[in-house]
Amino acid sequence: MAAEEEKPIQEVLSLPILLADRVVKSAQDAQSFKPENAKLAAQVTELSHHLRSAARLATSSTAVYDRPIRRVSVDLTKSLDRALTIARKCRRKKTNVLHHVLSITAAADFLKVSAVLDSSLADIKWVLSIFNQNSDINLSLPPIAATDPILAWVWPYIAALHMGQPEAANELATLTHGSNERNKKIIVEENGIPPLLKMLKESRNLEAQIAAATALCNLADDRSRVRTIAEALGVQIVSKLLPEAHMRVQVTLVNLVAKMSEMDSDVREDFGRENITRPLVALLGVDVDLDEFKESANPKKPVNSIHSLVEINKEMTKKSIHSYDSSNSLEGSGKRRKEKERESESPEVKSSLKLSCANALRKLARGSLSNSKKITETKALLVLAKTIETESGDLKTNCLMVVMELAAVAESNYDLKRAAFKPTSTAAKVVLDQLLRVINEDYQNPAFVVPAIKTIGCLASMFAAKEKRIVESLVSNLGHKNLEIGGEAAKALGKFVCEDNYNRKEHTQAIIEFNGVPKLMSLLKGNDRGSLHLHELVLLCNLAINAGNSKALEQARALSVVEGSARYVVSQNPELRELFAKAIHQLTIYQAGGVVHTTHRHV
Ligand SMILES: *[C@@H]1O[C@H](CO)[C@@H](O)[C@H](O)[C@H]1NC(C)=O
Ligand SMILES: *[C@@H]1O[C@H](CO)[C@@H](O)[C@H](O)[C@H]1NC(C)=O
Repeated sequence: MAAEEEKPIQEVLSLPILLADRVVKSAQDAQSFKPENAKLAAQVTELSHHLRSAARLATSSTAVYDRPIRRVSVDLTKSLDRALTIARKCRRKKTNVLHHVLSITAAADFLKVSAVLDSSLADIKWVLSIFNQNSDINLSLPPIAATDPILAWVWPYIAALHMGQPEAANELATLTHGSNERNKKIIVEENGIPPLLKMLKESRNLEAQIAAATALCNLADDRSRVRTIAEALGVQIVSKLLPEAHMRVQVTLVNLVAKMSEMDSDVREDFGRENITRPLVALLGVDVDLDEFKESANPKKPVNSIHSLVEINKEMTKKSIHSYDSSNSLEGSGKRRKEKERESESPEVKSSLKLSCANALRKLARGSLSNSKKITETKALLVLAKTIETESGDLKTNCLMVVMELAAVAESNYDLKRAAFKPTSTAAKVVLDQLLRVINEDYQNPAFVVPAIKTIGCLASMFAAKEKRIVESLVSNLGHKNLEIGGEAAKALGKFVCEDNYNRKEHTQAIIEFNGVPKLMSLLKGNDRGSLHLHELVLLCNLAINAGNSKALEQARALSVVEGSARYVVSQNPELRELFAKAIHQLTIYQAGGVVHTTHRHV
């Protein structure tokens, strides 16, 4: 199949054309079965006529969709082979006595070949009809599609896409909707992706662009299809189109970016290289007023974030001059058009675009250092913080998730952590304020609180010893009646007091001051079915190691809790052996109550 693909279509067609000429010649020269041969010659002549039309069509444009022609020509060549064989048998007059017997089987053979040629004739006529710009899409079923009817659906639509017919994109969007794997597979196999991208890129018809983007989005639910889209330059096309596209196209394009990035990490990086992060941040922040940060910024060091955002917005409006409205070349018309478009769009479209942008940024940031750098370099953090402050629902959750993914990447990369989250920078301050506000005010909503707590945990090493309000907020969540939130608070606090944290002693004191120990103990007793409470126990151990002599720990019977769980926890997590041993050692020194057992304490 693959080798067949590489041959130029003209070459593919030249074989059956030559063969047809030979069949006609043999049939005309036949000495026996003259009426049958005459019919054969007539059929093959007609076939040859259509083959030549197909060859002319294929030569007329390099962009012609040749998959159906190739496929049909395979069967057609076989039919012609059979016709040639039977015509050649009739070269001599039959004179022997077996003639009569032979003629019965030969007549049957002629009938079979004739039927096969009829099928081929119907196939080639059908294929030619799908390239007829003036006719409607031919929905009759050609013989070749008898075993695979979906081909007869898909081919005409893809051919119509090649010819720029917008309805075809709509039909493919419908065919790919839902979980019909077979349709999706065939559309990709039959080279449907390149013309969808072409329509997306070249069409000035809004509905056609939306339909093409929707079809691509439907196809992007499988890794190998995502790679096929990427190999057809989908990443570049989408990245280039996004800033200038109509808002309703943008929504689908952004969803496509998110789906593709989620499916394949190489594609995720490719999108980053195309700087897709910039229009995404700009679209998310389109209504966000960042003026307040200009004044609060250090005058010696202007906030380049605002500049870069303004620059991106300028770039986007400049680019959009060229789209949809090519007759209008007035400078600034693109900006006006864009503004008018935005004003006239429904609030649903506006908010779903923002929601999609936040979701795409989240997928792009996740696990990607270079994308996270690019996102924080545009200082998306200010936009995210403002959106977290003013929005609610899924958009707020998605923005919190973006911040969380960025922080998760920064946790293991010192440079990114310094660059993006240095507590003295405006962006980091604004983000931190919002995270604390979420933790303190939205405590009844885990969809907001959990990512906020996780983010703070990832950034634990950035906070100064005197920065007590963060620890205070986390400690108050230790006692949360939602055990998931309590557990996340314990996990985050664990990062404030672990061995790697320079300020672990001060943070430990603060946790104890804010009454963290009793809260931690009741969280440990919380009955969520057989859970190990690993994060809670690790936090307790670290508190014990850093606290010195602590009444709170003694009162809470920390020693017996640590001892009681040590054997089981360490058997499951051998890397925690040393931590538990140290904690028990510390607690034993200060807690007289435990002295009786000290000599036999092993972990
Ligand atoms: C559709 O294809 C069939 C062959 O399968 C052909 O006979 C018919 O004329 C075509 N219809 C149109 C509208 O072109
Ligand atoms: C992305 O942005 C960087 C920095 O502004 C630039 O050097 C690079 O050429 C851009 N890449 C593309 C594909 O536009």
